Amino acid sequence: MILSIESSCDDSSIAITRINDKKLLFHKKISQDSEHAQYGGVVPELAARLHAITLPKILEETKPYFHEFKAIAVTNEPGLSVSLVEGVSMAKALSVALSLPLIGVNHLKGHIYSLFIEGETTFPMDVLLVSGGHTQLLHVKNLDEIQLLATTMDDSFGESFDKVGKMLGLPYPAGPIIEAYAKKGDEKRFDFTIPLQGTSSSKLAFSYSGLKNQVRLCIESYENLDEQTLCDICASFQRIAVAHLMQKVKKAYKERNVEHFGVVGGASANQYLRKHLEAFCATKKAKLHTAKMEFCSDNAAMIGRCGVEMYEKGKFTALEALKVRSSSKDIFF
Ligand code: KG4
Ligand code: ZN
Repeated sequence: MILSIESSCDDSSIAITRINDKKLLFHKKISQDSEHAQYGGVVPELAARLHAITLPKILEETKPYFHEFKAIAVTNEPGLSVSLVEGVSMAKALSVALSLPLIGVNHLKGHIYSLFIEGETTFPMDVLLVSGGHTQLLHVKNLDEIQLLATTMDDSFGESFDKVGKMLGLPYPAGPIIEAYAKKGDEKRFDFTIPLQGTSSSKLAFSYSGLKNQVRLCIESYENLDEQTLCDICASFQRIAVAHLMQKVKKAYKERNVEHFGVVGGASANQYLRKHLEAFCATKKAKLHTAKMEFCSDNAAMIGRCGVEMYEKGKFTALEALKVRSSSKDIFF
């Protein structure tokens, strides 16, 4: 069994994955959403302090399995340094106490493996990663060969939902709330412009800061927002945010085949986005892979599944070499 720990942002999570059949034997996550909600975003110092309280509590529940662990997998990059340190310190302490090897897992790779929890991998696969920290289009050959096809020039997809939510006075994380309001809104009422439409550059990229500013100006033009206008803003914003993603995805695969397409990350829970990706995959005769809703946002089950793959390939990291890193550009080729 592999014990896995995730604490890269504001979710404390621990899982146990059986090595031979990848079965998830234990999984628990304690989110800090309500603690950060009032600040309109994650406060790193507060997140770290809460991890220090919740991680040991969850670990306590895994005690009956302690003698069966073969390795400890832990997210060590990318993320908030002060948050990552909490999980990595716990992993190191366990590694010493139980004489077990350590596996440092990249959080982005973890998200990719959220598609394979309790199952086998389906590589090669093209993956759209949409989270609070990232918007990336990836061609994943295998665990170690990942090509970055496009990334964001500024805000990420999920972050744009959170920032628009903050402007509307909604609590963090605003993504699911905006999606819910959008369902009751008129998505054509506000004609925001799709970002980077006229770019002739052959370089694919995403951008969300301009759209965020358009929405800000729209909100500021109202003295008081009635419920229907709020819903219409959410629907119009979501339509353009997704249209931008879809335009770039379609461009990326105009002359490129794709058989397996995955969407991962917290914002991959968005049903409106999934619907558009379904339609795109249908035109390409590709299969759309999605994670179970509970494994879209950060969790240790995906870290454990990636950890099993790394265990099988002997990818361990020595205690003194396991470092926390806030960014991780070098996983791509
Ligand atoms: O993957 P995740 O849990 O954390 C990071 O690694 O960043 O993603 C969290 C992000 C937040 O920005 C949140 O607002 C967004 O995912 N999100 C959504 C939805 N559910 C979560 N964005 C749009 N629609 C949703 N339904
Ligand atoms: Zn994440």
